[in-house]
Amino acid sequence: MRERWRRLRRRPRPPGARPRTLRRRLVVTVASVVTLISLVICVGSVLTLRTVLMDQLDQRVRTAIGRTAGPAPALRAPPGQDVSPVEMILAAPGTEAGMVLVISDGRELHAGYLDRDSAVRPLPDEQLERLLAAAEPGPVHGADLGGELGGYRVALATTPGSAFLVGLPTRPADTAVLQLAVTIAAVSAVGVAVLVAFAAGYIRFALRPLESVARTAARVADLPLDRDAALGERVTAGGADPGTETGQVIAAFNRMLGHIERSLTARQASEDKVRRFVADASHELRTPLSAIRGYSELTRRMGEGLPADAVYALDRIEAETVRMTALVEDLLLLARLDEGRELERRTVSLPRLVIDAVNDARVAGGGHRWLLEIDAEPAEATVLGDAHRLQQVVANLLSNARVHTPPGTRVTVGLRGDRAAGTVVLTVSDDGPGIAPEQRDAVFERFTRADGSRARATGSTGLGLAIVRAVVRAHGGEADLAGGPGATVFTVRLPAAPA
Ligand SMILES: Nc1ncnc2c1ncn2[C@@H]1O[C@H](COP(=O)(O)OP(=O)(O)OP(=O)(O)O)[C@@H](O)[C@H]1O
Ligand SMILES: [Mg+2]
Repeated sequence: MRERWRRLRRRPRPPGARPRTLRRRLVVTVASVVTLISLVICVGSVLTLRTVLMDQLDQRVRTAIGRTAGPAPALRAPPGQDVSPVEMILAAPGTEAGMVLVISDGRELHAGYLDRDSAVRPLPDEQLERLLAAAEPGPVHGADLGGELGGYRVALATTPGSAFLVGLPTRPADTAVLQLAVTIAAVSAVGVAVLVAFAAGYIRFALRPLESVARTAARVADLPLDRDAALGERVTAGGADPGTETGQVIAAFNRMLGHIERSLTARQASEDKVRRFVADASHELRTPLSAIRGYSELTRRMGEGLPADAVYALDRIEAETVRMTALVEDLLLLARLDEGRELERRTVSLPRLVIDAVNDARVAGGGHRWLLEIDAEPAEATVLGDAHRLQQVVANLLSNARVHTPPGTRVTVGLRGDRAAGTVVLTVSDDGPGIAPEQRDAVFERFTRADGSRARATGSTGLGLAIVRAVVRAHGGEADLAGGPGATVFTVRLPAAPA
């Protein structure tokens, strides 16, 4: 049962339906509760009044029958007048309008009623029949006479030789009850309307600070906090009492924002420190590395009579120094890009750059099949940027296609202009073993090697794609990877230079 209720509550809203805001729900709840209470009061009052009025009516019926069937009723008309006993009794002063009277003296049946204008009228046959059918001895009971007379409370009394039937209309009581019901309903409706208007206004006023919290939270959510720790946003809920729940929420929210800002600033400061350290260390390492390389080269050249082992060792020192220099250069480049250092901005023709890179790759990777598909006018495939860095981007992608795929792999380099998006699109695809889907996002991170064992053997460091993405982003573009085994596609989009 509970589960069903939960499921019902969680049912998705039909499209286009108004949102179930807290404010709306509060107003609806208040309105429902007040309406229900009014309804209960209305029904209770009406039932009580009806009971009281009916009791009084029954009491009057009893009094009337007591008086009518009491000792020595004047059943005979004064001499010389042809007046029925019913007429005489009904015409007596003090008789209630609407009273019905039937008298049977054993021989004749006299029936009449007093109309609204206090005129005695004969009881029509149909009403008389209905009255007689409903009449029974005992306590006062109801009878529906129909027609314009309607409902009655009647009582039957018998004396030796005569029977009396007296009835009083329920219509006045019914009318009073109806009037009360209408009055209570009208007053309740007005009351509920006023209360709902007041509640809506008050709840809107009381919850307004929360809207400010939501707006601030939305603004904070849009901030590029991964790049910039400056979080100047605070909730400014003018007039929110700190003693209220909303005031407490705002205070806690602002404290939380302050805390996050301090943490982000601290994190950024520490990241900046690491970046500076890497940049400084890489920079400092360049000089000793070039000295090591120079001296080992010199020693190898001059050391004619050196033993073969020593020559081999010097070769290794030179090769590793070259590798380390490349690594240090990569680290320095990444640290500078992280710092947001401005790149050179010159007009670079990508077709030329790509053709050169593919030619270099053909020489380096003779075992691979290299295809070039340039589908762009030279003017379309021009970007504003740093030619050297862009060359590095293409070289890194081509070197990956060569190093991480077996010989015989077909590598296709495509270049096209996307005029609608105002970009130049470079794709490097190969039909090699590919990259597992779960590795796809990670390959752009630093020191990530999707295939550790083979990549390590080839001496790769895992910085190539990180540099690709950093350089492309520094040019205002984006680098992505798509495809699966047998179809690896790296796509680089760069904003085209204005014509
Ligand atoms: N075309 C490709 N086919 C298969 N795997 C690839 C391809 N390109 C990249 N990878 C995988 O992505 C990883 C990351 O590439 P990245 O260029 O960043 O580093 P690397 O090539 O290992 O080292 P570096 O380029 O710094 O010498 C590689 O180690 C490799 O496993
Ligand atoms: Mg690489």
